Amino acid sequence: MNKLRLSDRDRARLWHPYTQMKTAPEPLAIVRGEGVWLYTDDGRRLLDGTSSWWVNIHGHSHPKLNEALACQAAKLEHVMFAGCTHEPAIELAERLTNILSQGLSRIFYSDNGSTAIEVAIKMAIQYWQNRGEPQRKEFVALHHGFHGDTVGAMSVSEQSVFTQAFQSLLFPVHRVHSPYCYRCPVELDRSRCHIECLQDLENTLARNPSIAAVIIEPMLQGAGGMIVWPQEFLSGVREFCNRFGVLMIADEILTGFGRTGKMFACEHANVSPDIICLSKALTGGYMPLAVTATTEAVYESFLNDDRSKALFHGHSYTANPLACAVAIASLKLFEEEKTLEHVQALSHQFHDRLEKLRDNRNVGDVRGIGTVAAIELESPDGGYLNELGPKLGREFLQRGLLLRPLGNILYFMPPYAISVSEADWVFDQIDDVIQSLS
Ligand SMILES: Cc1ncc(COP(=O)(O)O)c(C=O)c1O
Repeated sequence: MNKLRLSDRDRARLWHPYTQMKTAPEPLAIVRGEGVWLYTDDGRRLLDGTSSWWVNIHGHSHPKLNEALACQAAKLEHVMFAGCTHEPAIELAERLTNILSQGLSRIFYSDNGSTAIEVAIKMAIQYWQNRGEPQRKEFVALHHGFHGDTVGAMSVSEQSVFTQAFQSLLFPVHRVHSPYCYRCPVELDRSRCHIECLQDLENTLARNPSIAAVIIEPMLQGAGGMIVWPQEFLSGVREFCNRFGVLMIADEILTGFGRTGKMFACEHANVSPDIICLSKALTGGYMPLAVTATTEAVYESFLNDDRSKALFHGHSYTANPLACAVAIASLKLFEEEKTLEHVQALSHQFHDRLEKLRDNRNVGDVRGIGTVAAIELESPDGGYLNELGPKLGREFLQRGLLLRPLGNILYFMPPYAISVSEADWVFDQIDDVIQSLS
């Protein structure tokens, strides 16, 4: 038995993501999870206020998900997915195509959010090549967007501290306004505007016949600041993609599976993208798995007697049966536990509690959708590296609440398994801490 503390053993060998290893505090050693709670090796209980990076929805260590995983492991843990198939991958694809908007009928698996984006980018580029329009090879992306950390995903993301060291690797994209109403890019007031910020997209599409696709995070831009959209912006994106004949890629890696109150965020505006990217909550937060789903029209452009027209993308763990099995179990839980109804109830509660915070002198803006509550704190310099983030994180930790603010943007995004009283307790802590800021 090793007598050293987990965090000391970690420090000796590990390198953590987004972490300045020289100055970061020692990591929390988590030994167990149950429901919305995480337990540390030194006996603390912490409420998981970020759903473990937005992946967990039904709670930690859910008996039904545990069982699905164990059952599948006893049958088949993995097999390569070219030339072979298996029931978990097929059943999950059937279930997904039943709940996705009509038209999204083809499922391509990969491993995580970033790879789902890489697949979408490659699919869009090759779609136009296969159709004989290779000049369509550029992308439009939004300011404040975040789509992942691989090179293609970084290219379509907003340029920031996350991408600055890798600038030389990135391909150029057309970047257009996002509807960040609190900091309106066209300096209008939401109560009187007509979504004038959309014109930037329209002008960009009109001027550039070489555009292959527009990529967006529908209704909620996550890592870029928890920016909640008016649904008219989303309908406008679909309308312009139709008008200019370009593909619309919806990155629902964060928003998919109920996070915004609907199963998929595109439903808020009743629109269907040409390509949708899903990951995070797909497996209930258990296993890395991702989906890039598309239409028969995109799929059929790859069908050819010439084998070189196939989509050349894959991963060793494509369609991992354990991940697919747990994803199926997670989708069943939505029905058995009436998950979306609980999300609706939480959504009203979050809205009411957020509005009460609005008038606090330290609060610039509050934004919410579904089970996401965000508070933009007043600060002379915003951004991810704003010191308020770690300072608030430490304060909440002492109160038994695990939050990870994005600089001066504090957000709460728990597993849907949270009870109304647990959520009330969290908002009480947030209220208290914000009041105490000098
Ligand atoms: C909208 C969105 N797209 C893509 C990603 C990248 O996903 P992953 O971290 O699984 O690569 C994220 C991650 O936070 C995300 O929020």
